[in-house]
Amino acid sequence: MRVVKTTEATINVSFNQVSDSYDILIGAENLLENTLGEFCRARVSSQTKKICIISNPKVFRLYGEKTQKSLENAGFTVAHWLMKDGERYKNFATTEKALAFLSAQNLTRDDAIVALGGGVVGDLAGFASAIYLRGIRFFQVPTTLLAQIDSSVGGKTGVNSDFGKNLIGAFHQPRGVLIDLETLKTLPRRELAAGFYEIVKHAALADRNFFAQTQGFLQKFPLQNFKQNFARRSGEEFLSELQKLISANVAFKAQIVAGDERETTVRNDSNSRKILNFGHTVGHALEKVTNYKMLKHGEAVGFGLLAAAQISNSLGKLPKHELDLFNEVLLSVGKLPVLAKISLDEIIAAFAHDKKASVNSFKWILLEKLGRAAIVDDREIPRQLVRDSIRTALKI
Ligand SMILES: NC(=O)c1ccc[n+]([C@@H]2O[C@H](COP(=O)([O-])OP(=O)(O)OC[C@H]3O[C@@H](n4cnc5c(N)ncnc54)[C@H](O)[C@@H]3O)[C@@H](O)[C@H]2O)c1
Ligand SMILES: [Zn+2]
Repeated sequence: MRVVKTTEATINVSFNQVSDSYDILIGAENLLENTLGEFCRARVSSQTKKICIISNPKVFRLYGEKTQKSLENAGFTVAHWLMKDGERYKNFATTEKALAFLSAQNLTRDDAIVALGGGVVGDLAGFASAIYLRGIRFFQVPTTLLAQIDSSVGGKTGVNSDFGKNLIGAFHQPRGVLIDLETLKTLPRRELAAGFYEIVKHAALADRNFFAQTQGFLQKFPLQNFKQNFARRSGEEFLSELQKLISANVAFKAQIVAGDERETTVRNDSNSRKILNFGHTVGHALEKVTNYKMLKHGEAVGFGLLAAAQISNSLGKLPKHELDLFNEVLLSVGKLPVLAKISLDEIIAAFAHDKKASVNSFKWILLEKLGRAAIVDDREIPRQLVRDSIRTALKI
């Protein structure tokens, strides 16, 4: 917050939207065990005594002990609180329980929280940190691919409610993010693929080199061999390529977010935070019409990306050879689930009523070309073109 005094003695209080900067550490040397405690210790005050780990039973069983020991070795008193596993528990009721625990533990404003888990844990723990005592420090330790390349960076925290998904929340940046690639060893293949569709999204928005890097990684290290690649002697190259790929994603997201921390509503340029919603108009609609049960978020985005790329091409933007390349790389992640019994009208009705849309219309995030986004008002695109493009892309 800045307080600016002018000569007329008017006091103007303006909120400086750029929060403190923070580090995102990415590596594969058992960071969780060896480094986490020191990483946190270097980013809190000398008054910080307690850290509460928020996680879920599945992740805590796998990585809780290492996390706890590492923090204890750095001199923290450590408690943990586990939420139930699943998107449906990312809500107010769970947040209230988390807050009650923090309060019972007498966590003060000097203390901190570590979010250990995927995006669900990260979003809820981040939100609890944002509102507990009006905001305390928190660290993100993302353990899914999606959380590592997307949700742990950028400071959007929140929960789902009766009004919709992710509509209640706060911008609250972490004090640091620690990404231990080794946690991906235990991640189920479908979760990995879900993360990779979002990687293809980043790469297509960012630039040709990043796109080629993603294409090359998927060719060299197909997802069906992901677990073996950790164990094989070729593992070192795999880990180094994986680390570079995740770093490229984090750097891209961090750059966009730093330039537009609060997703300014009036910005419609090709670097605004809005572009990260590429593929999400149809993606969110698909999640909604399938009652958030059939598809992983990243899979729904995979379909949404195919649709948005097709609309881009039909509008005379993304050239055909780039559309073909985009589709090829996206589908090289792995097969998307079969969309049975889903009608085009339902999908269109779902995004037309998206609550994030402004009163009269909403924006499509499209591709001008690989490496450049275009934000286009829905009213500027013929209905039939949208319908045909979605039908073609989703094969429905
Ligand atoms: N804040 C943001 O900017 C942002 C961005 C994108 C998505 N999100 C949110 O992220 C959430 C989705 O995150 P997600 O895809 O990570 O899902 P998730 O958190 O539900 O994790 C998926 C599953 O993997 C399990 N898991 C986590 N780490 C594991 C590991 N290392 N090994 C084995 N299993 C593991 C989890 O327990 C869960 O069952 C959504 O709620 C979405 O709204 C937020
Ligand atoms: Zn997403």
